[in-house]
Amino acid sequence: MVMDAKNEMSPEELGLEVRVFPDPVLKRPTEPVRVFDAELVQLVERMRRTMYKHDGAGLAAPQVGLSLKLAVVDCGGCFYVLINPKLLAQEGEQVGEEGCLSFPGIFAPVQRPQRVKVEAQDEYGISHVYEAEDFLARAFLHEMDHLDGKLFIEHLSPLKRGMIRKKMLKRAMQEA
Ligand code: NI
Repeated sequence: MVMDAKNEMSPEELGLEVRVFPDPVLKRPTEPVRVFDAELVQLVERMRRTMYKHDGAGLAAPQVGLSLKLAVVDCGGCFYVLINPKLLAQEGEQVGEEGCLSFPGIFAPVQRPQRVKVEAQDEYGISHVYEAEDFLARAFLHEMDHLDGKLFIEHLSPLKRGMIRKKMLKRAMQEA
């Protein structure tokens, strides 16, 4: 009996390829998600697997090559789906180390609001309002930035940003 390889995909194989800087898809505008179907549920599941496989705290659709307003976030075992998210309120200030799966091995302190209120839909189209603070607020904002084509290095000083950009370009050249 010949097995159909497509039906025998392991969780590893279901993972998506993570795009790294300077892939232009990371800067492209995203479209709202309008269709909530089984395909979307499967995409969210694949993004979740991909995020965990890479030990990420979040993953946005542009990072897997899709220009959609969709991101997933993990915060110490709690899993969030942010579809068509809106920032309703923000308050305070925090500075903390951030990284991004599209910038492997790079971390830098970023200033963000301390608390946020975010409205987002889940993969079934149901709206939720989340009140987040500390790391979760940071993770939500980082992922929502991705949906606006904004990368965490854009929050850094021009000098620091230039250094990271150079490092990433060098890396891309070596891999090409
Ligand atoms: Ni990121």
